[in-house]
Amino acid sequence: MKHIFKQGNNELPTLLLLHGTGGDERDLLPLAEMIAPEASVLSVKGNVDENGMARFFARLREGVFDEEDLVFRTNELKQFIDESANDYEFDRGNVVALGYSNGANIAASMMYHIKESLKAGILFHAMVPRRGIELPDLSGVPVFIGAGKRDPLIPMNETKELVENLKKAHSSVTEFWTDGGHELRREEVDEAKKWFEKNF
Ligand code: MLT
Repeated sequence: MKHIFKQGNNELPTLLLLHGTGGDERDLLPLAEMIAPEASVLSVKGNVDENGMARFFARLREGVFDEEDLVFRTNELKQFIDESANDYEFDRGNVVALGYSNGANIAASMMYHIKESLKAGILFHAMVPRRGIELPDLSGVPVFIGAGKRDPLIPMNETKELVENLKKAHSSVTEFWTDGGHELRREEVDEAKKWFEKNF
């Protein structure tokens, strides 16, 4: 997969950066710089092309995911992280996802489908990636959720459902709500930074 790797402090987790629809592997570098400036970074570009916009998995229409492709791409991304850990010699067991929108959705999908695929996650404006499956045990996998009370793409109840699903799988979840919409706000980035510093 197209990506950027930046070597940082080996004692900290490696941040896996996952952009939103239409973004690329450069998009979230400034965000990583704000949240964990010393951490190594693996920033990936989604392999799916939707009318010229990069995504991490296909959708049938806005908010309706192509489940078969979601599962395929989730495994593909996991494989890519495994290989990158070998190539760049970072600790595969210490990877924290930092995703926005479509990128947060594939990070959530990794947590829903593959045990021990991530050490933790910062999910900005994520949806429920899939329904009707049992999640693996997420004990020791903390998650930060940033959400907007007026997000036109993600009703509050959907975010709450995501939080409940993760909690039921024993993840310790921190929620932070802004009064905004789908856009990423400075206040949630600041909260995510505090959460990261507390946990790592
Ligand atoms: C998705 O398709 O993952 C969500 O609708 C968010 C987005 O627009 O990327």
